[in-house]
Amino acid sequence: MEAKSYILVTGGAGFIGSHTIVELLNSGYSVVVIDNLVNAYAANEKQKPESIKRVEIITGKTVPCFNIDITDKKILNNLFQQFKIDCVIHFAALKAVGESVQIPLQYYQNNIAGSNTLFQVMQENNVKRLVFSSSATVYGTPQFLPITEDHPTGQGCTNPYGKSKYFTEEILKDVCVSDPEWQVILLRYFNPIGAHESGLIGEDPSGIPNNLLPYIAQVAVGKREKVNVFGADYDTPDGTGVRDYIHITDLAIGHLKAVLKLNDANFQGCEVYNLGTGRGYSVLEMIKAFSKASQKEIKYEICKRREGDVASSYADATKARKELDWIATRDINDMCFDAWRWQSANPSGYDQNPSIAR
Ligand SMILES: NC(=O)c1ccc[n+]([C@@H]2O[C@H](COP(=O)([O-])OP(=O)(O)OC[C@H]3O[C@@H](n4cnc5c(N)ncnc54)[C@H](O)[C@@H]3O)[C@@H](O)[C@H]2O)c1
Repeated sequence: MEAKSYILVTGGAGFIGSHTIVELLNSGYSVVVIDNLVNAYAANEKQKPESIKRVEIITGKTVPCFNIDITDKKILNNLFQQFKIDCVIHFAALKAVGESVQIPLQYYQNNIAGSNTLFQVMQENNVKRLVFSSSATVYGTPQFLPITEDHPTGQGCTNPYGKSKYFTEEILKDVCVSDPEWQVILLRYFNPIGAHESGLIGEDPSGIPNNLLPYIAQVAVGKREKVNVFGADYDTPDGTGVRDYIHITDLAIGHLKAVLKLNDANFQGCEVYNLGTGRGYSVLEMIKAFSKASQKEIKYEICKRREGDVASSYADATKARKELDWIATRDINDMCFDAWRWQSANPSGYDQNPSIAR
């Protein structure tokens, strides 16, 4: 085994993982990535995922990256034998809410059984430091705003994706109770958008985007005709849904701060932090901001509300500010400008020569 220690990043070829790796490498950490490419593009099986190649261009550093599935205990174990792993940042998951309703067993197998397998391998190899990608979804319909970390979780999770995040959080809390050596940070993200300022990496959804911003970006670039605005009769200033959007680089830096917190000698057990800006923007405000950034007209159509959507959701991010020394500094214009730079330079995402419509 090498003497150097690494942060293992699962799902590191994805949107949030790739941006986080840039911040980790720029801060001097060494990173090893695993990703099974279920939602990341590589030109072929022998090549690194394109996102990781571009992370290497941005940082000038080499990133060891392996096509490994977190549900494969034996291969995971080999990796832990091969690399001295100090800490794990666990992003790998399936994340499409609608799809999770159609194929719940795959979601539970991947997100819960896969996470459980990873935690077992960590425990067996005495690696007990973890940052976990959770989501504001665990709060369900907000009972109050802004949402603090002690808002109830689980009750309002209406889909298998949200439940998989809630259950995994609960597993980790139990693990920390069982063994005080474990140090775990659960990060509950609000709505990450935007792209790295280089325009080299960004969000690359396959098929029809599930999230608003990539959808707007694809309309701006001419890939889709119009944005469907689901509901304009909510109790919000302009009637459309309000969400807490956070720039992906701010979110990535939140992970760096979480790793630093785990290194704090006084840190014990399991802590939860919201990562959001604390401010909400409506769907129409986002369309307007993106139109300004892209200098394109963005057509939209008001449609019926979508089942399960809430009027407003935004974070109280005070705890992360006080305890992680983290604050989101990029505003809605930065988010839209950076997303547009990425989208306009990479209209087909990472696959520059798509042979099938993605
Ligand atoms: N993007 C968001 O809006 C958002 C919000 C809240 C939470 N999250 C969570 O953050 C994490 C990262 O999200 P993202 O937006 O970067 O998603 P993403 O799909 O871009 O990245 C996830 C990566 O994990 C990989 N992966 C999935 N299952 C795997 C497995 N079994 N083994 C190995 N690799 C696997 C995928 O190929 C992909 O590259 C996920 O856990 C997601 O649930 C995302």
